[in-house]
Amino acid sequence: MEKRSRLRLDGKVAIVSGAGVQAGAGVGNGKATAILFAREGARVVLVDAVREWAEGTQSAIQSEGGEAIVVQADVSAPEDCRRAVEASLAHHGALHILVNNVGVGSRGCVTDVSDEEWQRVVSVNLMGMVYMSRYAIPHMRASGGGAIVNISSVTALRPKRMAPYTVTKAAVVGLTHAMALDHAAERIRVNCIMPGLVYTPRVAQRATGEMRETRRTSTPLQIEGEPWDIGWAAVYLASDEARWVTGVVLPVDGGFLLTSAPN
Ligand SMILES: NC(=O)c1ccc[n+]([C@@H]2O[C@H](COP(=O)([O-])OP(=O)(O)OC[C@H]3O[C@@H](n4cnc5c(N)ncnc54)[C@H](O)[C@@H]3O)[C@@H](O)[C@H]2O)c1
Repeated sequence: MEKRSRLRLDGKVAIVSGAGVQAGAGVGNGKATAILFAREGARVVLVDAVREWAEGTQSAIQSEGGEAIVVQADVSAPEDCRRAVEASLAHHGALHILVNNVGVGSRGCVTDVSDEEWQRVVSVNLMGMVYMSRYAIPHMRASGGGAIVNISSVTALRPKRMAPYTVTKAAVVGLTHAMALDHAAERIRVNCIMPGLVYTPRVAQRATGEMRETRRTSTPLQIEGEPWDIGWAAVYLASDEARWVTGVVLPVDGGFLLTSAPN
Protein backbone atom coordinates (compact mmCIF):
# COMPACT_ATOMS: atom_id res chain seq x y z
CA MET A 1 0.00 0.00 0.00
CA GLU A 2 1.25 3.46 -0.91
CA LYS A 3 2.11 5.53 2.15
CA ARG A 4 0.54 8.98 2.09
CA SER A 5 3.07 11.74 2.52
CA ARG A 6 1.53 14.60 0.55
CA LEU A 7 -1.33 16.80 1.63
CA ARG A 8 -4.54 15.85 -0.15
CA LEU A 9 -4.85 19.08 -2.17
CA ASP A 10 -1.16 19.86 -2.49
CA GLY A 11 -0.43 22.16 -5.43
CA LYS A 12 -4.10 22.79 -6.22
CA VAL A 13 -5.78 26.15 -6.67
CA ALA A 14 -9.41 26.23 -5.53
CA ILE A 15 -12.23 28.76 -5.75
CA VAL A 16 -14.84 28.52 -3.01
CA SER A 17 -17.92 30.70 -3.50
CA GLY A 18 -19.84 31.93 -0.48
CA ALA A 19 -16.66 31.43 1.55
CA GLY A 20 -17.47 34.17 4.02
CA VAL A 21 -19.51 34.30 7.13
CA GLN A 22 -20.98 37.20 9.06
CA ALA A 23 -18.38 38.68 11.42
CA GLY A 24 -18.01 36.71 14.63
CA ALA A 25 -20.56 34.13 13.56
CA GLY A 26 -18.43 30.96 13.46
CA VAL A 27 -18.20 28.87 10.29
CA GLY A 28 -20.60 28.18 7.44
CA ASN A 29 -20.25 25.45 4.83
CA GLY A 30 -18.12 27.63 2.54
CA LYS A 31 -15.79 28.87 5.27
CA ALA A 32 -15.25 25.37 6.66
CA THR A 33 -14.54 24.06 3.15
CA ALA A 34 -12.06 26.85 2.44
CA ILE A 35 -10.22 26.30 5.75
CA LEU A 36 -9.98 22.53 5.22
CA PHE A 37 -8.80 23.04 1.62
CA ALA A 38 -6.02 25.33 2.84
CA ARG A 39 -5.04 22.85 5.57
CA GLU A 40 -4.78 20.21 2.85
CA GLY A 41 -2.37 22.38 0.88
CA ALA A 42 -4.61 24.22 -1.58
CA ARG A 43 -4.23 27.91 -2.39
CA VAL A 44 -7.74 29.26 -2.06
CA VAL A 45 -9.73 32.01 -3.74
CA LEU A 46 -12.48 33.20 -1.40
CA VAL A 47 -15.44 34.57 -3.34
CA ASP A 48 -18.21 36.35 -1.48
CA ALA A 49 -20.68 39.19 -1.99
CA VAL A 50 -19.48 40.74 1.29
CA ARG A 51 -15.74 41.44 1.24
CA GLU A 52 -15.31 41.70 5.03
CA TRP A 53 -17.01 38.33 5.57
CA ALA A 54 -14.58 36.65 3.19
CA GLU A 55 -11.70 38.53 4.81
CA GLY A 56 -12.65 36.84 8.08
CA THR A 57 -12.08 33.48 6.40
CA GLN A 58 -8.84 34.75 4.87
CA SER A 59 -7.55 35.76 8.34
CA ALA A 60 -8.43 32.33 9.73
CA ILE A 61 -6.51 30.64 6.89
CA GLN A 62 -3.51 32.97 7.10
CA SER A 63 -3.28 32.56 10.87
CA GLU A 64 -2.63 28.85 10.22
CA GLY A 65 0.01 29.61 7.57
CA GLY A 66 -2.29 28.98 4.60
CA GLU A 67 -2.67 30.99 1.41
CA ALA A 68 -5.88 32.72 0.34
CA ILE A 69 -7.05 35.75 -1.61
CA VAL A 70 -10.45 37.46 -1.49
CA VAL A 71 -12.60 38.42 -4.46
CA GLN A 72 -15.76 40.36 -3.76
CA ALA A 73 -18.30 39.12 -6.30
CA ASP A 74 -22.00 38.49 -6.70
CA VAL A 75 -22.31 35.09 -8.37
CA SER A 76 -25.57 36.11 -10.05
CA ALA A 77 -23.59 38.64 -12.12
CA PRO A 78 -21.70 36.96 -14.98
CA GLU A 79 -19.03 39.68 -15.13
CA ASP A 80 -18.30 39.21 -11.41
CA CYS A 81 -17.84 35.48 -12.00
CA ARG A 82 -15.49 36.11 -14.90
CA ARG A 83 -13.49 38.48 -12.67
CA ALA A 84 -13.30 35.89 -9.86
CA VAL A 85 -11.89 33.27 -12.22
CA GLU A 86 -9.45 35.76 -13.75
CA ALA A 87 -8.25 36.74 -10.26
CA SER A 88 -7.44 33.11 -9.58
CA LEU A 89 -5.40 32.88 -12.77
CA ALA A 90 -3.70 36.24 -12.23
CA HIS A 91 -2.74 35.53 -8.62
CA HIS A 92 -2.13 31.79 -8.55
CA GLY A 93 -1.50 31.07 -12.25
CA ALA A 94 -3.99 28.20 -12.33
CA LEU A 95 -7.40 26.87 -11.39
CA HIS A 96 -8.05 23.21 -10.55
CA ILE A 97 -11.08 23.18 -8.23
CA LEU A 98 -14.36 25.09 -8.04
CA VAL A 99 -16.83 24.74 -5.16
CA ASN A 100 -20.17 26.31 -6.04
CA ASN A 101 -21.41 26.85 -2.48
CA VAL A 102 -23.59 29.97 -2.69
CA GLY A 103 -27.27 29.33 -2.05
CA VAL A 104 -29.96 31.63 -0.67
CA GLY A 105 -33.09 30.48 1.12
CA SER A 106 -36.62 31.36 0.08
CA ARG A 107 -39.99 30.49 1.60
CA GLY A 108 -43.42 30.15 0.01
CA CYS A 109 -45.28 28.19 -2.65
CA VAL A 110 -46.20 28.85 -6.29
CA THR A 111 -49.39 30.66 -5.32
CA ASP A 112 -47.62 33.30 -3.23
CA VAL A 113 -44.01 33.71 -4.39
CA SER A 114 -43.54 36.76 -6.64
CA ASP A 115 -41.84 36.69 -10.04
CA GLU A 116 -39.09 38.89 -8.62
CA GLU A 117 -38.39 36.37 -5.84
CA TRP A 118 -38.28 33.48 -8.33
CA GLN A 119 -35.86 35.48 -10.48
CA ARG A 120 -33.66 36.31 -7.48
CA VAL A 121 -33.39 32.73 -6.26
CA VAL A 122 -32.89 31.21 -9.72
CA SER A 123 -30.25 33.77 -10.62
CA VAL A 124 -28.24 33.18 -7.41
CA ASN A 125 -28.75 29.46 -6.70
CA LEU A 126 -28.71 28.14 -10.26
CA MET A 127 -27.28 30.73 -12.63
CA GLY A 128 -24.52 31.56 -10.13
CA MET A 129 -23.24 28.00 -10.54
CA VAL A 130 -23.67 28.16 -14.32
CA TYR A 131 -21.68 31.41 -14.59
CA MET A 132 -18.86 30.33 -12.28
CA SER A 133 -18.56 27.04 -14.16
CA ARG A 134 -18.76 28.73 -17.57
CA TYR A 135 -15.66 30.79 -16.84
CA ALA A 136 -13.78 28.17 -14.81
CA ILE A 137 -14.09 25.20 -17.17
CA PRO A 138 -11.99 26.54 -20.08
CA HIS A 139 -9.04 27.02 -17.70
CA MET A 140 -9.48 23.56 -16.16
CA ARG A 141 -9.68 22.10 -19.66
CA ALA A 142 -6.48 23.92 -20.67
CA SER A 143 -4.60 22.56 -17.67
CA GLY A 144 -5.68 18.95 -18.27
CA GLY A 145 -8.67 18.64 -15.95
CA GLY A 146 -10.30 19.73 -12.74
CA ALA A 147 -12.98 19.11 -10.14
CA ILE A 148 -16.23 20.96 -9.52
CA VAL A 149 -18.36 20.45 -6.40
CA ASN A 150 -21.88 21.85 -6.39
CA ILE A 151 -23.79 22.30 -3.14
CA SER A 152 -27.44 21.20 -3.26
CA SER A 153 -29.66 20.42 -0.23
CA VAL A 154 -31.83 17.58 1.09
CA THR A 155 -34.66 20.07 0.58
CA ALA A 156 -34.42 19.12 -3.11
CA LEU A 157 -35.97 15.78 -2.10
CA ARG A 158 -37.86 16.78 1.06
CA PRO A 159 -39.63 20.04 0.15
CA LYS A 160 -41.40 22.12 2.79
CA ARG A 161 -43.13 25.28 1.52
CA MET A 162 -39.88 26.55 0.08
CA ALA A 163 -40.68 26.21 -3.62
CA PRO A 164 -37.96 28.42 -5.15
CA TYR A 165 -35.25 26.98 -2.89
CA THR A 166 -36.41 23.39 -3.50
CA VAL A 167 -36.61 23.84 -7.26
CA THR A 168 -33.19 25.44 -7.56
CA LYS A 169 -31.55 22.84 -5.29
CA ALA A 170 -33.12 20.08 -7.44
CA ALA A 171 -31.81 21.90 -10.51
CA VAL A 172 -28.31 21.73 -9.02
CA VAL A 173 -28.56 17.93 -9.23
CA GLY A 174 -29.55 18.10 -12.91
CA LEU A 175 -26.81 20.61 -13.59
CA THR A 176 -24.27 18.31 -11.91
CA HIS A 177 -25.31 15.35 -14.06
CA ALA A 178 -25.27 17.41 -17.26
CA MET A 179 -21.88 18.95 -16.56
CA ALA A 180 -20.37 15.65 -15.41
CA LEU A 181 -21.22 14.04 -18.74
CA ASP A 182 -20.49 17.04 -20.94
CA HIS A 183 -17.02 17.56 -19.49
CA ALA A 184 -15.90 14.04 -18.63
CA ALA A 185 -13.77 13.74 -21.76
CA GLU A 186 -11.94 16.88 -20.65
CA ARG A 187 -11.12 15.15 -17.35
CA ILE A 188 -13.28 17.58 -15.41
CA ARG A 189 -15.17 15.76 -12.66
CA VAL A 190 -18.43 17.30 -11.45
CA ASN A 191 -20.07 16.11 -8.25
CA CYS A 192 -22.71 17.33 -5.85
CA ILE A 193 -23.03 17.36 -2.07
CA MET A 194 -26.53 17.27 -0.64
CA PRO A 195 -26.20 18.64 2.90
CA GLY A 196 -28.76 17.75 5.52
CA LEU A 197 -29.74 19.93 8.47
CA VAL A 198 -26.41 21.56 9.23
CA TYR A 199 -26.01 23.99 12.12
CA THR A 200 -24.58 27.04 10.34
CA PRO A 201 -24.70 30.74 11.33
CA ARG A 202 -27.65 31.23 8.96
CA VAL A 203 -29.58 28.54 10.85
CA ALA A 204 -28.37 29.89 14.22
CA GLN A 205 -30.14 33.21 13.49
CA ARG A 206 -33.56 31.55 13.87
CA ALA A 207 -32.95 28.24 15.67
CA THR A 208 -34.14 27.85 19.25
CA GLY A 209 -32.57 25.17 21.44
CA GLU A 210 -35.68 23.08 20.88
CA MET A 211 -35.37 23.42 17.08
CA ARG A 212 -31.73 22.34 17.23
CA GLU A 213 -32.70 19.29 19.22
CA THR A 214 -35.49 18.39 16.77
CA ARG A 215 -33.04 18.72 13.87
CA ARG A 216 -30.46 16.56 15.64
CA THR A 217 -32.91 13.80 16.54
CA SER A 218 -34.31 13.75 12.99
CA THR A 219 -31.07 12.06 11.91
CA PRO A 220 -30.60 8.32 12.49
CA LEU A 221 -27.06 9.06 13.72
CA GLN A 222 -28.51 11.46 16.34
CA ILE A 223 -25.64 13.86 15.72
CA GLU A 224 -26.00 17.54 14.85
CA GLY A 225 -24.44 18.27 11.45
CA GLU A 226 -21.62 20.82 11.33
CA PRO A 227 -20.16 22.77 8.40
CA TRP A 228 -16.96 20.72 8.82
CA ASP A 229 -18.92 17.61 7.79
CA ILE A 230 -19.71 19.30 4.47
CA GLY A 231 -16.13 20.57 4.13
CA TRP A 232 -14.61 17.10 4.52
CA ALA A 233 -16.90 15.70 1.83
CA ALA A 234 -15.78 18.54 -0.45
CA VAL A 235 -12.11 17.75 0.29
CA TYR A 236 -12.64 14.16 -0.86
CA LEU A 237 -14.61 15.04 -4.01
CA ALA A 238 -12.10 17.75 -4.97
CA SER A 239 -9.04 15.59 -4.37
CA ASP A 240 -7.33 13.13 -6.70
CA GLU A 241 -8.54 10.38 -4.33
CA ALA A 242 -11.88 10.82 -6.13
CA ARG A 243 -10.30 10.61 -9.59
CA TRP A 244 -12.85 7.95 -10.72
CA VAL A 245 -15.87 9.66 -9.19
CA THR A 246 -18.07 11.94 -11.28
CA GLY A 247 -21.78 12.72 -11.52
CA VAL A 248 -22.36 11.63 -7.93
CA VAL A 249 -24.88 13.19 -5.54
CA LEU A 250 -23.56 12.60 -2.03
CA PRO A 251 -25.95 13.15 0.88
CA VAL A 252 -24.07 14.35 3.96
CA ASP A 253 -26.97 14.32 6.34
CA GLY A 254 -26.50 11.92 9.28
CA GLY A 255 -28.85 9.51 7.49
CA PHE A 256 -31.75 12.01 7.36
CA LEU A 257 -32.88 10.89 3.89
CA LEU A 258 -33.16 7.27 5.01
CA THR A 259 -35.96 7.88 7.47
CA SER A 260 -37.59 11.21 6.59
CA ALA A 261 -40.82 10.74 4.64
CA PRO A 262 -40.38 11.07 0.88
CA ASN A 263 -42.77 13.68 -0.54
N1 LIG B 1 -27.21 25.40 6.57
C1 LIG B 1 -27.84 24.30 6.21
O1 LIG B 1 -28.47 23.59 7.01
C2 LIG B 1 -27.81 23.88 4.76
C3 LIG B 1 -28.51 22.72 4.40
C4 LIG B 1 -28.48 22.31 3.08
C5 LIG B 1 -27.78 23.05 2.14
N2 LIG B 1 -27.13 24.19 2.51
C6 LIG B 1 -26.43 24.94 1.46
O2 LIG B 1 -25.08 25.17 1.83
C7 LIG B 1 -24.63 26.38 1.21
C8 LIG B 1 -24.03 27.30 2.25
O3 LIG B 1 -24.96 27.54 3.27
P1 LIG B 1 -24.54 28.35 4.59
O4 LIG B 1 -25.75 28.39 5.45
O5 LIG B 1 -23.27 27.81 5.12
O6 LIG B 1 -24.21 29.79 3.94
P2 LIG B 1 -24.68 31.28 4.26
O7 LIG B 1 -26.12 31.47 3.97
O8 LIG B 1 -24.19 31.63 5.61
O9 LIG B 1 -23.88 32.11 3.15
C9 LIG B 1 -22.48 31.98 2.98
C10 LIG B 1 -21.97 33.19 2.24
O10 LIG B 1 -22.58 33.31 0.95
C11 LIG B 1 -22.52 34.68 0.60
N3 LIG B 1 -23.43 34.98 -0.51
C12 LIG B 1 -24.78 35.05 -0.47
N4 LIG B 1 -25.25 35.41 -1.69
C13 LIG B 1 -24.17 35.58 -2.49
C14 LIG B 1 -24.01 35.95 -3.85
N5 LIG B 1 -25.05 36.25 -4.63
N6 LIG B 1 -22.74 36.00 -4.36
C15 LIG B 1 -21.68 35.72 -3.59
N7 LIG B 1 -21.77 35.38 -2.28
C16 LIG B 1 -23.01 35.31 -1.74
C17 LIG B 1 -22.89 35.38 1.91
O11 LIG B 1 -22.40 36.73 1.89
C18 LIG B 1 -22.23 34.53 2.96
O12 LIG B 1 -20.98 35.05 3.39
C19 LIG B 1 -25.84 26.97 0.51
O13 LIG B 1 -25.83 26.60 -0.87
C20 LIG B 1 -27.01 26.32 1.21
O14 LIG B 1 -28.17 26.28 0.40
C21 LIG B 1 -27.14 24.62 3.79
